[in-house]
Amino acid sequence: MSRSEARPPLPRLAVVIPCYNEAPNVAPMVAKLDAALAGIPWEAIFVDDDSPDGTAAKAKAIAATDPRIRCIRRIGRRGLASACVEGILSTAAPYVAVIDGDLQHDETILPRMLAALESGEAEVAIGSRNVDGGAMGEGLSPIRRMVSDGGAALANAALPVKVGDPMSGFFALPRALFEELAPRLTATGFKILLDILLSAGRPLRVAEIPYTFRAREAGESKLDAGVLLEFGGLLADKALGGIVPLRFMAFALVGGIGVLVHLVVLGLLHGLGPLEFGPAQWTATLVAMTANFLLNNRITYRDRRLRGPRLLNGLLIFYVVCGIGAVANVGIAGLLLRDGLVNWGIAGGAGALLTVVWNYAVSSTLVWRAR
Ligand code: GDD
Ligand code: MN
Repeated sequence: MSRSEARPPLPRLAVVIPCYNEAPNVAPMVAKLDAALAGIPWEAIFVDDDSPDGTAAKAKAIAATDPRIRCIRRIGRRGLASACVEGILSTAAPYVAVIDGDLQHDETILPRMLAALESGEAEVAIGSRNVDGGAMGEGLSPIRRMVSDGGAALANAALPVKVGDPMSGFFALPRALFEELAPRLTATGFKILLDILLSAGRPLRVAEIPYTFRAREAGESKLDAGVLLEFGGLLADKALGGIVPLRFMAFALVGGIGVLVHLVVLGLLHGLGPLEFGPAQWTATLVAMTANFLLNNRITYRDRRLRGPRLLNGLLIFYVVCGIGAVANVGIAGLLLRDGLVNWGIAGGAGALLTVVWNYAVSSTLVWRAR
């Protein structure tokens, strides 16, 4: 037997399945794909962020006997969009699709999505809940639905093409097109399709194929308030042309909140309360730094969130980094002022800006290390 005969046929379609705590859905997912894609050479790539429920082990057990199945297990990382990106970049198949791993998307329309791409009718095929024949089904609560509709309207305002369901997590495109766009993607949060459409730099031809969003049977949704925040961040990033890193904007915003926290604590302790200015100012600084640390851990670095002992360790390093930043702030402002180059407002502003950049640069490498 020659080498090529031993290999399964080269997949025409790679189906990328982002997963977090979807262990009970893995085997049913494979069975559903197997049925839906009869006659089409395909492979499936589960991209799991080290789910505690053993999703990766489930996928690998199937992969051990079925060469069409693969699994990427990422450690110390979280993020639906980045999981999709890594899965897509790992395949050599000419067409790629992304589908949720919780069985809410209707895999039976995959052949029609592929056909729309192969015929050249579309550059991106979208499984859509908001076009004729599609439906939200029982998949979304009324509140989620409102958020989803509002988000779609906002997205369409930013998009060069009108898309009924721009928030869809179910879509397909040629791999070559994705590879071309990949370096420009923001790749944070949940909205990878929107990211693709916004990053293309030209209106992509889309075909929307209707389906009914199913209710989730096992596991639970990972969409939370933070995801909405990331959605705003994605739009802001694209609006600014990606010049200012999104993480820096979040960091600076959190810094602004920190200033407010500081003033409130100072006002309570010194303004209204009995404390002298000195101790009150120290306490306010400590409270504000701690608040900033926790907010950054939840928002700015939610994909690298520290927990347990590493949280405390990170907090201590953060104090040191911010302390040095504060000294530099006062020093630089003092120098500028002493030389009479600028007035106190500009000197103070320059010192503060330097501190934010310093705190950001150092804490993103020392406190929230990418692993
Ligand atoms: N690898 C990885 N990492 N996968 C993740 C992560 C993550 O951090 N977060 C979520 N997933 C996986 C889930 O396991 C699931 O397979 C899929 O991504 C979608 O996550 P859900 O938590 O089920 O999302 P949803 O059902 O609330 O949201 C769906 O509808 C939105 C629009 O209303 C998704 O299709 C979204 O993409 C879509 O925008
Ligand atoms: Mn879901």
